[in-house]
Amino acid sequence: MTLVAKGLEGIVANSTSISDVRGDIGQLIYAGYDINELAGKVSFEEIIHLLWHGELPTQSELDALTAKLRAERSLPSEIVSFLKTVPHTSCPMDVIRTGVSMLGLFDSNKGDANYDRAVSITAKIGIIAAYFHRLRQGKDLPVIRKDLSEAGHFLYLINGEAPTKEATDTLDIAYVLHADHGMNASTFSARVTEATLSDVFSAITSAIGTLKGPLHGGANEGVIHMLQEIGSEDRVDSWLEEQFAKKAKIMGIGHRVYKVLDPRAPHLRNMAIKLTQQLGEPKWIRMSERIAEVMRERKHLNANVDFYSATVYYSLGIPTDLFTPIFAISRTAGWTAHVLEQLADNRLYRPLSEYTGPAVGKTVKPISER
Ligand SMILES: CC(C)(COP(=O)(O)OP(=O)(O)OC[C@H]1O[C@@H](n2cnc3c(N)ncnc32)[C@H](O)[C@@H]1OP(=O)(O)O)[C@@H](O)C(=O)NCCC(=O)NCCS
Repeated sequence: MTLVAKGLEGIVANSTSISDVRGDIGQLIYAGYDINELAGKVSFEEIIHLLWHGELPTQSELDALTAKLRAERSLPSEIVSFLKTVPHTSCPMDVIRTGVSMLGLFDSNKGDANYDRAVSITAKIGIIAAYFHRLRQGKDLPVIRKDLSEAGHFLYLINGEAPTKEATDTLDIAYVLHADHGMNASTFSARVTEATLSDVFSAITSAIGTLKGPLHGGANEGVIHMLQEIGSEDRVDSWLEEQFAKKAKIMGIGHRVYKVLDPRAPHLRNMAIKLTQQLGEPKWIRMSERIAEVMRERKHLNANVDFYSATVYYSLGIPTDLFTPIFAISRTAGWTAHVLEQLADNRLYRPLSEYTGPAVGKTVKPISER
């Protein structure tokens, strides 16, 4: 009998030394480090090194990687021109998906330069998102700076002014927490594409398209829409009852692998509590806490990474439709790590399917008789 694992649930598709998600105990590991050990102690740039090389960098390795990333902080003028023609109403995820695909057209590296391509895409994806955001507002394009971290530079580009240290540190930790996550849907997409020996740009383009969906990275935007729709803490319970009656999914809740709390959620929750208090807008976190409580009690489901990251980004003043692009910017570190790992020991992904169509044996009738 054919075993059908719908959604590939429980199937081990490959081995990886990059990260591990232990759903039964709520643990996320990057190359031997528990995420709780890393968050708040190392920068996103150090995480990029860890994912690409399997080790945290020495100071000189970090300096070299940082310099390499910053040297790649520019876009081909044709891509800037393209961004100027994009309808202002476009979804930013569609823009970065197209922009990364376009980067492949300007790839001057020949042959085996995939590490350099990984550096280039990682350095450029945030610029594509931020420049589109500036242009759609009719604002100027800030001059690229080489003195800011990846997180700080993104905030600088979208706001046109250097961010505070606190805002930079907050986004940096969010980047660290989102950088990789085992064989998640978008990483799998990237590996499937790369395994055909296509190219890195195609692999990351596939991954961005996959992350966009509300069952994956798009959930963080859905969380803010949900909180805005509910509006106040006293409406949470009745709103949830309405959703339960409709059998609607609550965004930011539940996970395919974690059966206990997503270990990233408490970090983002703490950041969300701090930021909303500073802003004098605690209602968002109060509503979130009540939603999480009801979902735990009624459905035995926990908050996932997107549930609190939404409030963190909102509190940083980031527009809602840039939440998923931010996820993509940080996950590019993981996607490219997986692409490099895939190529190092490649095998084409080619699962089977269970055929449920009509029995074979039908004969072709002339078109006039069908
Ligand atoms: C992440 C997700 C796709 C994982 O789903 P999955 O492993 O395919 O699990 P299912 O969708 O089959 O859900 C199993 C059960 O839990 C329920 N459930 C799961 N997530 C739910 C949610 N967010 N809200 C309400 N019910 C949910 C399902 O309705 C289903 O109930 P049933 O057995 O009575 O039909 C799912 O939890 C979800 O859609 N969450 C919301 C989107 C989200 O936050 N995505 C980001 C993930 S990091």
